[in-house]
Amino acid sequence: MGWCGAAPLLLVRAWNHKIKEADAYLVITPEYNHSVPGVLKNAIDSVWVAFPFRNKPIVAVGYSGGIAGGVRAIEHLAQIAIQAEMVPLRTAVVIPQVATAFDGDGRPVNPVTDTSLRVAALDDLAWWSAAPMERGPAASYPRRVPRPGSHRRQRDRR
Ligand SMILES: Cc1cc2nc3c(=O)[nH]c(=O)nc-3n(C[C@H](O)[C@H](O)[C@H](O)COP(=O)(O)O)c2cc1C
Repeated sequence: MGWCGAAPLLLVRAWNHKIKEADAYLVITPEYNHSVPGVLKNAIDSVWVAFPFRNKPIVAVGYSGGIAGGVRAIEHLAQIAIQAEMVPLRTAVVIPQVATAFDGDGRPVNPVTDTSLRVAALDDLAWWSAAPMERGPAASYPRRVPRPGSHRRQRDRR
């Protein structure tokens, strides 16, 4: 099985184009075995059309059933994001004990959750996604020469 897994190629291509449309990413993830769920990793690994992720900021919202609040998933996602050529931001939202973290109307019980989502994650994400535009088109990121044997070389040709 290749790096696309068993997913039909058309579906993967549509996913790639959807990802390419975005200027920034807010990823909500539970913690599975001190990491992100395999389906999230697979979704990221399936992005390859002309580097849709390249230089775009990503912020994580982590949650878990216990007190960890998904922090280990958030940390691991940052490593994964770097290899996928995204820019993981320092800001994150941590939601421990998710089963009781929201009221009946879906609002966070802990005001810190709401504040960190609005102020930290969304404001930072908006700032970073606007930053390349402010640098102007002349400052577009140089296209690198792929390393010999890199799987990215194959992807770059598509
Ligand atoms: C396979 C699996 C692994 C998990 N590993 C962790 C873990 O390492 N740390 C943690 O705090 N919670 C862990 N949990 C608990 C989940 O974070 C928690 O149940 C969460 O609410 C699951 O979200 P979901 O229902 O959207 O998948 C794990 C749950 C599953 C199913």
